[in-house]
Amino acid sequence: MNSGQDNEARIVTPLTQLLDIRHPVVLAPMDGTANGRLAAAVARAGGLGLIGGGYADADWLEGELEAAAGARVGVGFITFALDERPAALRLALEAKPIAVQLSFGDPRPHAEAIRAAGAALICQVQTPDEVKAAVEAGADVLVAQGRDAGGHGRPDLGTMALVPSMVDSVAPVPVVAAGGIADGRGLAAALMLGAAGVTMGTRFLASTEASSNPAEQAGLVAARSVDTVRTDVFDQARGPAWPEGHDGRVVRSSFTEEWRRSRDEAAASERYWASAPDDYDVRPLWAGEGLDLISAIETPDDIVRSVVDQAIARLRTAGPMVVAGAGR
Ligand SMILES: Cc1cc2nc3c(=O)[nH]c(=O)nc-3n(C[C@H](O)[C@H](O)[C@H](O)COP(=O)(O)O)c2cc1C
Repeated sequence: MNSGQDNEARIVTPLTQLLDIRHPVVLAPMDGTANGRLAAAVARAGGLGLIGGGYADADWLEGELEAAAGARVGVGFITFALDERPAALRLALEAKPIAVQLSFGDPRPHAEAIRAAGAALICQVQTPDEVKAAVEAGADVLVAQGRDAGGHGRPDLGTMALVPSMVDSVAPVPVVAAGGIADGRGLAAALMLGAAGVTMGTRFLASTEASSNPAEQAGLVAARSVDTVRTDVFDQARGPAWPEGHDGRVVRSSFTEEWRRSRDEAAASERYWASAPDDYDVRPLWAGEGLDLISAIETPDDIVRSVVDQAIARLRTAGPMVVAGAGR
């Protein structure tokens, strides 16, 4: 909680103030992998932990809300899935979440219920049309997701250009930067761009509490930023279908390369369903462009701590380092 009664250095932004959290660091609500334990651990570390309610599977969500009971967490949903399964939102709201994040779809039909439950409404957006819908929904916070991001999204603007553009277009609504951020330099840079915090997905996927299997975690640590690609093969060959204009960033594999060459949906589908669940030469190893900054599986607490400490160190020293001369 944001007591402000000790002397620990921290970064106070409109996001930390709005949500009464200690650090402007958000766990991305990664479908299935941002489980209740991980969200609670991020919350205990002082960040905003969002359970990955993804495709709105109420049974899974019920268990994860229970696992996080006692911690101040939020929940995120893929909006077009929630439209089909609104019961998952009702379940989430009964648990009195600190916030609900809606991504990929129209947040307006769900906004009133979220507000009535006393939760902050966070909308993850990529395009001006999505920004407009989020503002009309009365979003308390916008997450600007650049194409650098791991997982699903759009191949449009990178985080560096998207964030300041969105900050300008929605001020004074706080904007959180997402995509390719995995350390404190990314947090410091995001703040310089006008963001009120950062969302990290891939960094927390490579953490001790994520529901990611050992092969996935080893793959994340081994792969480099340059190994990631955006692809729609999983949506086409496996489903569920995603709205036009979306794809996702994964670590390149023989499967994604074959798809790039052939776009043979029947062959891709057959190979996908014949593969073992931990065969990441076929199954998706979702990851963002920040992979070069991830060299070990760490605890959520260590991740939040090191990101905040490094950002504070950068913010304290960067000015004198780069500003020379006494002029304006
Ligand atoms: C494995 C994985 C699953 C994701 N699932 C979701 C999801 O269900 N809902 C959502 O809004 N975003 C999802 N995302 C995207 C994140 O919200 C966030 O934008 C992204 O992780 C930020 O980029 P980064 O991975 O480089 O930190 C997912 C990302 C990853 C890596």
